[in-house]
Amino acid sequence: MADVAVETSDLKKTYTTSSGAIEAVTGLSLEVRRGELFGLLGPNGAGKSTTIGMLTTRIIPTGGTASVGGADVVRDPLTVKRRIGVVPQYNTLDRQLTVLENLEFRGRYAGLSARAARQRALDLLELFSLGPRAGAKVTEMSGGQAQRVMIARALMHHPEVLFLDEPTSGLDPQTRVNLWDVLRQMRAEGSTIVLSTHYMEEAESLCDRIAVIDHGTVLACGELAELKSQSGPETVLALTYDGEAEKIVGQVRQMDGVLRAEASGTSLRAFTRVPESILAALVLVGPDAGLSLIDVRIVRPSLETVFLTLTGREYRE
Ligand SMILES: Nc1ncnc2c1ncn2[C@@H]1O[C@H](COP(=O)(O)OP(=O)(O)O)[C@@H](O)[C@H]1O
Ligand SMILES: [Mg+2]
Repeated sequence: MADVAVETSDLKKTYTTSSGAIEAVTGLSLEVRRGELFGLLGPNGAGKSTTIGMLTTRIIPTGGTASVGGADVVRDPLTVKRRIGVVPQYNTLDRQLTVLENLEFRGRYAGLSARAARQRALDLLELFSLGPRAGAKVTEMSGGQAQRVMIARALMHHPEVLFLDEPTSGLDPQTRVNLWDVLRQMRAEGSTIVLSTHYMEEAESLCDRIAVIDHGTVLACGELAELKSQSGPETVLALTYDGEAEKIVGQVRQMDGVLRAEASGTSLRAFTRVPESILAALVLVGPDAGLSLIDVRIVRPSLETVFLTLTGREYRE
């Protein structure tokens, strides 16, 4: 299908280590359409980098299939490499070279003439508001500037799909928002972008569609509104005690307005559509049973409640 940019089917990766097998990706299936900004959202260790590594031919899958524009990542890695741009999680710019040289070098490597490489590099630096920094050494760049240089470098050969692994982790909030603008602009110009993130708010505000992943598999995939409607308009009241919450969960389940409740360790979660009207009674349950309340959180319907509903676990950033 021409409108599918990236496709994976039951994709798997098991790392073999001296201390045993680690199942990083356990059967991941998804489809990214051309022209969309697609987010892989999951907590640390969910398998995001491994997935991006396989899609960008750096990591060889141990099961399933993946393709970019119809080219298989295992059978046809060279075709895939020509079609993709990759922005890794950490700064991999050549510190010996200037900003411009980093881009030119990549362009030459991709087969551009010296002249074409220079022109393309200058155009991209202009696009990313880095024109005046062309001659600067990479070591003189701020984190946000280096990130933009890495994106520019990834675009030197006009890739069909741009992959970014946690592009904003470690950036300050202002720089993060600036980068969102850059990505939105590229999307508006027709690029296909796949990014991973562990920031829920990043996925919510930036991505057209989101795959929520954990333990190497897709828990849910769709537009934000679809994801929210899957978990319902439920608010989660998350309470933490100084002892086992198990002993009061039965009582909480009996309360009017509580749809479901679950306890794990010292935390209790009550799912409700009427948080305001039950909160006052709910906070009294623990103390009545000899448990002190340490923390109360009201989690409104959001990706966070989607995650809670799908996994029964708090989202760990
Ligand atoms: N090279 C590796 N060797 C062994 N285990 C790995 C390797 N890379 C990642 N892992 C493990 O695979 C799991 C998924 O990791 P990763 O794909 O990096 O997740 P994420 O990017 O979502 O944080 C984790 O348990 C991680 O420790
Ligand atoms: Mg990662």
